[in-house]
Amino acid sequence: MSANRIYVYKAFGRFWHWTQAILILFLALTGFEVHGSYQFLGYRQAVLYHSTAAVALLALIAFAIFWHFTTGEWRQYLPTRQMLRAQVDYYLIGIFHDAPHPTKKTPLSKLNPLQKLVYLALKIMAIPVMVLSGLFYMFFRYPQSNGIGTLNLGHLERIALVHTAGAFFLVSFVIAHVYLITTGRTPVSNLKAMITGYEDLEDEHEEVAVAAAIEEHA
Ligand code: HEM
Repeated sequence: MSANRIYVYKAFGRFWHWTQAILILFLALTGFEVHGSYQFLGYRQAVLYHSTAAVALLALIAFAIFWHFTTGEWRQYLPTRQMLRAQVDYYLIGIFHDAPHPTKKTPLSKLNPLQKLVYLALKIMAIPVMVLSGLFYMFFRYPQSNGIGTLNLGHLERIALVHTAGAFFLVSFVIAHVYLITTGRTPVSNLKAMITGYEDLEDEHEEVAVAAAIEEHA
């Protein structure tokens, strides 16, 4: 079967993806040390590194929002019910019987219906919850240095709870994500594509479908 290479992930998209992954992992590692789950850097250092990485993540998010809107990439995340059930069935049943992937990747539609839904929820719910609770946490915890001593410190516990629950959710997402990226055409094809930008399609049918899709959107 001849493999046809297509360019799926643009340079900034890959930079954003990997930087975000590294920052989230680092925030999880330092955050859970702040939480008291283990000791490695020491509490004070962990807080310092966590706050610094949080600022870097905020900067990255600002650039990513700009990129998504100026390039139209945000459309990739518009949810659809088409093939959603088939995609869920594939992950629950088909995948264990070597069934074919129900949806195909193209430069104009990189995400399957389940990915669209999950990534959209990450963008509009999980990440904003982490950012907002993290910022509130910063202001509640360091009232003097941020000049907002009037905020009610009694609420810190609830904010810490939301932030920690969000952290557990994000870590679970990363674990599921790492498993799911191995379910592509080959166990490493998705990983390679996110590194190089190029992905191999299985046969000429798909290449024709890609060309038609590009023409349709031109
Ligand atoms: C822009 C995003 C974020 C900001 C502004 C932020 C900010 C903060 C701050 C200020 C603290 C308290 C540090 C202290 O005790 O002095 C904290 C704690 C923590 N953060 Fe973040 N954070 C962010 C993202 C994340 C992410 C992505 C994760 C994990 C994936 C995470 C996990 C944690 C955990 C587990 C704690 C400890 C909570 C507790 O025990 O109460 N944070 N964060």
